[in-house]
Amino acid sequence: MEKKPQISSTYDDMFEQGGFDQVFDLPYQSSCYYPMYHAVLKVLQNKKVENVLEVGCGSGAFAHMLFEKTHIGYRGFDFSPVAVEKAKRRTSKESAFYVADALNAENYATLSSSIICTEVLEHIPNDLELVSIWPAGTFCVCSVPNFDSTYHERFFRSEAEVAERYGKLLDIKTIARIKKPILSDISRSNFFRQLRWNRYRPKRLKELLGFGNFDEVGGWFIFTGYRVEDK
Ligand SMILES: C[S@@+](CC[C@H](N)C(=O)[O-])C[C@H]1O[C@@H](n2cnc3c(N)ncnc32)[C@H](O)[C@@H]1O
Repeated sequence: MEKKPQISSTYDDMFEQGGFDQVFDLPYQSSCYYPMYHAVLKVLQNKKVENVLEVGCGSGAFAHMLFEKTHIGYRGFDFSPVAVEKAKRRTSKESAFYVADALNAENYATLSSSIICTEVLEHIPNDLELVSIWPAGTFCVCSVPNFDSTYHERFFRSEAEVAERYGKLLDIKTIARIKKPILSDISRSNFFRQLRWNRYRPKRLKELLGFGNFDEVGGWFIFTGYRVEDK
C-alpha cells in the first residue's frame, strides 16, 4: 500500500477534504469513531481524571464530546493548522487548542494532567520516541487500530502486539477492544437508510447490526497505563 508522508501538510489536505466520507466533519455522535471516543471518556470519568492534554486532537470531535458531557479540564494540540481551526470552530473554545508537534518535548515540560492520544501513534514513524518524552508517572489513554491505511505506519493484530510495542515505556493497566462501525456516518437516518438498502444482503446486514468479526470489520485497541521512570 502506498503510504502518505507523515508531515503536517498531509493532514491539512486530509482535514480540508474532511477525511474518508467526510468523517472528520461529522458531529461526534454520528462519527464511526464515537464508540471509541465514548470508551475513552468512560475511562477518564471512572478514573476521576480532572485535566487532560490531547495529543493530536484532529478536528476536535472527542474534545467536543468532553466539553458537552463533563467538566474535565481540556487542552489539545495538533500539528495540522487546518485541524486546529476546525476544532476551535466546532467547539467555540478558541483557547483550548493550539498548533504543535507532538514530538517536541517542550509540550510536556510542565505537564500536570493526564494524556490522551487516540489514533495518532500509528501515524508517527518514531512513535516510541513520542511516548518516551511523556513525563514519568503520567496516566495515558491511547488507541491504535487493527487495520491498515495509506496514513498508517503500522497497525496491530492483538493485545499482545500492543503490549509488546508500548509495554517498556508504559506500565499498561488495561487493553480493550472496540469494534469499528462499518458506516463512517452512524447517524440514525443513515443507519436506517443502509438497513433498507442492504435488506437482501445478510452478511452486510449482520455487520450493520454490529455482529461483524473484529478482525474483519476493523477496530481499535484502547490501552491505558502510566509512563514508567526511565532506567
Ligand atoms: C486519525 S487523526 C486522529 C485525530 C483524533 N485524535 C481522533 O481520534 O479523532 C490523526 C491525527 O494525528 C495528527 N498528527 C500526526 N502526527 C502528528 C505530530 N507529529 N504532531 C501532532 N499531531 C500529529 C494528525 O494531524 C491527525 O490530526
